[in-house]
Order: sequence, then C-alpha cells, then structure tokens
Amino acid sequence: MKFGYFDDQNREYVMTTPRTPYPWINYLGSEEFFGLISNTAGGYSFYQDARLRRLTRYRYNNVPLDDGGRYLYINDGGDCWTPSYKPMKKELSFYECRHGLGYSKIQGARGGLKVEQLFFTPLFFTGEVTQVRLKNETDRAKTISLFSLVEFCLWDAQDDMTNFQRNLSVGEVEVEDSTIYHKTEYRERRDHYAFFSVNSDVVGFDTDRESFLGLSNGFDSPEVVLEGSAKNSVASGWSPVGSHHIQVQLAPGEEASYIFILGYVENARDQKWERPGVINKARAHEMIAKFRTDDQVHAALEDLKSHWNSLLCKFQLTSGDEKLDRMVNIWNPYQCMVTFNMSRSASYFESGIGRGMGFRDSNQDLLGFVHQVPARARQRILDIAATQFEDGSAYHQYQPLTKKGNDAIGSGFNDDPLWLIVGTAAYIKETGDFSILDEAVPFDSDPSNTASLFEHLKRSFYHVINNMGPHGLPLIGRADWNDCLNLNCFSEEPGESFQTSGPSEGPVAESIFIAGLFVYVAPDFIELCRRGNLVEEARQAQMHMETMTQTVLEHGYDGEWFLRAYDAAGEKVGSKECGEGKIFIEPQGLCVMAGIGVETGEAEQALNSVAQHLETEHGIVLLAPPYSTYYPELGEISSYPPGYKENGGIFCHNNPWVMIAETILGRGERAFELYKKICPAYREDISELHRLEPYVYAQMIGGRDAVNFGQAKNSWLTGTAAWNYVAMSQAILGIKPSYDGLVIDPCIPPRWEAYSIVRQFRGATYQIHITNPNGVSQGVAKVVVDGEEIAGNKLPLFLDGQAHQVEVVLG
Ligand code: BGC
Ligand code: NOJ
Repeated sequence: MKFGYFDDQNREYVMTTPRTPYPWINYLGSEEFFGLISNTAGGYSFYQDARLRRLTRYRYNNVPLDDGGRYLYINDGGDCWTPSYKPMKKELSFYECRHGLGYSKIQGARGGLKVEQLFFTPLFFTGEVTQVRLKNETDRAKTISLFSLVEFCLWDAQDDMTNFQRNLSVGEVEVEDSTIYHKTEYRERRDHYAFFSVNSDVVGFDTDRESFLGLSNGFDSPEVVLEGSAKNSVASGWSPVGSHHIQVQLAPGEEASYIFILGYVENARDQKWERPGVINKARAHEMIAKFRTDDQVHAALEDLKSHWNSLLCKFQLTSGDEKLDRMVNIWNPYQCMVTFNMSRSASYFESGIGRGMGFRDSNQDLLGFVHQVPARARQRILDIAATQFEDGSAYHQYQPLTKKGNDAIGSGFNDDPLWLIVGTAAYIKETGDFSILDEAVPFDSDPSNTASLFEHLKRSFYHVINNMGPHGLPLIGRADWNDCLNLNCFSEEPGESFQTSGPSEGPVAESIFIAGLFVYVAPDFIELCRRGNLVEEARQAQMHMETMTQTVLEHGYDGEWFLRAYDAAGEKVGSKECGEGKIFIEPQGLCVMAGIGVETGEAEQALNSVAQHLETEHGIVLLAPPYSTYYPELGEISSYPPGYKENGGIFCHNNPWVMIAETILGRGERAFELYKKICPAYREDISELHRLEPYVYAQMIGGRDAVNFGQAKNSWLTGTAAWNYVAMSQAILGIKPSYDGLVIDPCIPPRWEAYSIVRQFRGATYQIHITNPNGVSQGVAKVVVDGEEIAGNKLPLFLDGQAHQVEVVLG
C-alpha cells in the first residue's frame, strides 16, 4: 500500500494523505540554518548545532507523536482548522504534501478555502521562510482569521527540557510591528536572538504559550484560535511562543499571500543593544527585507533548486528503471548530503542532543557526498584527522561546534583509524588532489603538535599492526564497526555504557572484521606510499597486507564463512560451533570486498552462506540465529530482542558490502537483487509494512526473528546512504573514480541491455553509454572515447570543461 507517489520531474515525493504510517519528514537548510519538517508541519529549527542553538521546541517521545512544529491555524467564520492536518486534525477536502530537495510544500483545503504553505531555508540565509497562499474557492466572500504559531526553545535543547526551575523564569520577548523577537538570555551571555515576522499588518499577537493555548489545551485546541482573537500577551518567563493574528477578507476566487520568517541573528557584543533593554534589530530588519514579496521568495526557491541541480548533475543515470533512476539521481544523493550536514545528530530517531560526529561515520558518509561537495569533504577529512591521537587511535566522536574530541566516549574503537584511509582515498580518487596528504594536521586538536595527513594515515595503518591479539588478528578494543559487539566490557549494571564501562581494552578479543577492513584499505595505503616515492614503506605495508590475508584464512575462516571475532576468553564468535550468533554479515562482506579468499574459493563459499543463512525477502539480517538472552561477554548486541538492531535486524548499512562483494565475484544479478530488497523506492508498495519514508534509507529493517519483520526504523541518518550509493554507482553501474581517471567496470544483471550515465569528473563531463549486446554481467570489451577506441577501461582525464562521448561495450 502506498501513501503517495514520486514526482521525478519535480524531484519530489508527494504524500496524498496526512495519515502516513509514521511522520514522513524532510530537511530544510544547506549550510548553517536547518530545520526538520514532517508531512504534517511538525519538527523544529536550529542554527548549526541541534543541541546548543535550537530555535524552536520539539518534544520527542510525546503523545501524540510529532506535536509541535510551524503551525498555521485558520478560523473561517468559526470553523477552526489547520491546513497541515495536524494539529487540529479536521477533515480536509484536499491534502497534499510535497517533500522536495530542501523544501516542503503542504496544501490543505476545507470549506472552500485552499491554503498552501511552502517551507524552505534560502541559500546563505539564517532563517526559514514560509510562504502562505490562500484562495477562496467559493462564490461567497470570506472573512478569515489566521494565527501562526511557533514555540521557542530556550536555545540549549537539553537544558530546555530539564531545567524548569530556572527556565520558567528567564523567557523574554519583544514585539515590534509585525515581528516577535525571542531574546531569552540575550541580557546576559548570549549574543543571539530569534525573530518571527510576517510581511503584513497584524490585528494582534501572542507570545505567551499559556495565553495562546489555555492552560489545559494542546496544540489541537488553542483558546485564541477558537475564540477568534489574539490576546496580545507578552511573555515573561514561562514558555515564549510567537503567534501572529492576521485578518483577511477574500472575495469569491480571491487569493492572498503572506511571508513568514523565522530568523536567527547574532550581534557583536558591543552592538547588542539599540538602547538599554532594547535589542539591536538592524540585522533582523535586513533579513526581513529580503523576503517582502512573492517574487523574492520565488527567486530564492529557484536559486535553491539550481543549487541542488548543480549537486545532482555530477552523476545522472538513465537506466529505463524509474525506481533505480530516482534513487540514483535524486533521493540517495540527497540523503547523502543530509548525512553530511547532520551526521547522526538530528532526525526523528536522533534527538539532536546526543552524539557528536562519529569518526568512522563521518569517513564513511564522505563516500556518498565527496563528488557533490569535494571542497567541503576536504575540510571534513582534516577536521576528523585532527582528532586522532599520536599512536593512531582516535576519538570515537567529536563535537561539530568545537571540532574537539569527545572525552566522555574517548577512543579505543579499533576500526576507527582505518576509516580515515578509506575517506581520504575516496577524496583523492575523486579530485586528484594529492596535496591534501601534505597538510599539517594536529594530533588531539593540539595545533602545536602536528604531522602531515599522510603521517596520520600511516599511524592509522600501524595502529592495527601495533595492536594485535594472540592469533595475529587485530584487537577489537571497545567495539569495531559493530558498536554493540562489546567483548571486553562485561556490563552487568543497568544504565552503564555498554562500550565504555568495564576494562574495555582487553588484550585478547580480536576482530576479523577489522582484519578484513585492514586488507581492504591496504592497497590504497600502499598506492599512496608509492606515489610519495616511499618504496620501502610500500613494501612493508604490502607484507602486512599479505600476512593479514593469510591470518584471516588460517584463523578467521570457519569452513563455510568468515568468523566474526574471538572474545576475551579466546572463544569464537560467529562460528558454527556457537549456539547462537553462528554467522555474521560484516566479515563476509568486508573480507570479500578486500579480496580475501577470492582466488581460493572461501569468498564464494562465504557469500553462498550469506544467501543460505542470512538472506530474507526484506534484506540480509546481521547475524543468525539471534541471541535469545543477554550475554555479558558479548555486550549490547545481545541486549536487543531477537531480530532488532544489531541482534539480527536487517542492518541496511552492511547489506551493500555484500552487494559489492557479489560484484567482486562477478554476480551482478545477485548484487541487484540484494539492492532492491532494502531500497526504499522498491519498497514503496509495502509502505504500510515498511512504515518509514519510501524515499530514504532507514538504518534498520526488523529481521526475520523480529515481531515486526520487514518494518523499518531509524530513517535518514545512517551510513546506509553512502554505502548503497557506492554499491550502485561504483560496484554495479561500474563508474569508479581512481587515482588517475574514471574506470568503467560494471557488474550488472545480464538481462540489462543498455544504460547511460552523465558523470562530471575532474573538470570534464563524461557522457557514457553502456551497451550489453551479449548479455554478460561483467567485462568491458570495448571503450570508445570521442570516436576513438582506447586501450583498457580507464577514461582519460580531460580537465577541459568540455563534454566527452564515451561508448562502452560489455562482453
Ligand atoms: C546502537 C548502535 C549505535 C550505538 C551508538 C547502540 O545502542 O545499537 O546502532 O551505533 O548505540 O552509541
Ligand atoms: C550506528 C553507528 O553510527 C555506526 O558507527 C555503527 O557502525 C553502527 N551503528 C553499527 O553498530
């Protein structure tokens, strides 16, 4: 069952009912000012940091779900309703929500009045613009009252929902003409305020929540709206809100439009005040002046659209499969950009007050956005690397505002360092910018202690070699990619961190996953050594890679699949000898991606075992059989009920590793089959089961053993976005950036006859047409560039800003 449809022409998903199985959300903002918005106008806005600079309040875990947002109430001759359906939930004669790239448009109609709300954050603007259009579709004149509403957050979202003894006394506002200023704490250490304006006269306003709603009322029955007139309340403490009361007369067929702005302003300390007690509003006035007219709004929306166009046009596919095209061309890269902006901070599953940026997460996210924003990817790499320690280990997380490592979590996740090599290699392959390796980068954010980025990569590589266990396999530390495999923790107390309590850094527990990742990154490290003329360095690294490969085959293979780990007692994890958790997905994917056992058959056997033991109709579960009870020696993984999250959920992040692995064996049909199983656009028809947005990936789909098999959770902020993008664009469609050119090496279902890709790469546009006359999966028979056949399958670099025709024949 579907709740809408894709409008590919406009790059929108269109919901035709507000009763989606869950709030289906979108993101506003590109650089500094962001918002989350659901299809019923719920959500909130923040400047830079969802925890520390939150403009509007949002209650996670609230009843009903997703209450609180940017609301517009209508009182049409006594009939009160909200065009976004929520919060008043009055029946609408028409409803539509379009989530587009960086904007959302919600329309609702009732009683012959049609209302459209367009929400977006213009480029380079620290605020959110809402354009409201009304149309009287009846043949009678209407007198309507409109009431806007936002509820201000007192900036620090964590404090805002806990520290009531203080907070209920500090709220302050100012009202000037049609603009409401939220200036809580501006009197002391804050140099920022928010404003909420409208480009028309108002007949009244409210800034005190209780006055607006009534003490016992929710957002669904505000007293002011029901009574039809504002109270002109001026908040003093309690909960400040912003609400305008606008009155409008509409003749039959007449239209009206309004522009609201929710803005954020920072002032220099010595320019905070206009006069004692009155804030300096100059910058707010400037922002308001930018959007006085519909033409200004229209132009800014067009700019936003062309911004997105310029990001997306770097890779465009025409395959004849509309679901595939819309994922590759629109939604998957869009989600990758959102993970670039948000990391794991703010979604409807991440509260915006929790984690900072993950070391491993950010490096993997990079794989999905590096071609869209290479310059920003470069900065991101340098920021991440600066949180590394001298011994190559790394802070597991860092805070985006300070860019400093997070002490509360510290280091010791032994896969982390290697991801820096993955991210850096991807950046250089995309851009050819080897100079990044020479950048001086601090250790532990200490500018007086730096080394080249290349040296950081070397420390990453050798962190593994310097931290090996009894089988010659890498020590796992607190956890590896699987945050929940906590083999050194033994937590028995509720509320303890699974990762950081207990001894954590055991001398014995080893990870086959890290071994696989090590072998996977080694060729890039070796290549970077060679290109730096470090011949001996390269030789050493090669030797370590070969030794690790042998060690994995010797101690990390279990007969039919790769083992997962050895625990703190030296016992196998992910082995046929185990009662539960006999086979895990991660080492099968990564070890085969690394090429381990490809020549000798173990790789093929391992992938066949995945198909046999882990694959389901909704994707590949993380492990089988799931743990039925809590095992302190395994940690958080066994804390989840069977079938959820890391305990046998379909973890969409590592499904693409198996897809990529399948392409290494040349099995394109399998790879695509696996792609479709978890891909949201292909799951749109089962939206009632899947529950979450059909346009973006979720981190997890309930596994075979879950009560809710096939039901997704945790959409938007997940490494799933980047890895599925890599699996499709590089492994399956075969457009692979390499250090000195674009390599064409597809691995597709044999029945695919042809497809085309336009790829911008290093200053040239490659118009690539791939045909498959002999129905093969893999193998490039012929490449013709601008009419001339070339040797091999690496396209020459042109760097000339021109378009080049590439004809590829598979065979
Ligand atoms: C989740 C993991 C997540 C971790 C972050 C765990 O509870 O299961 O998926 O990475 O928390 O700390
Ligand atoms: C989510 C975390 O953000 C990521 O770093 C981790 O690899 C996965 N969970 C698996 O545990």
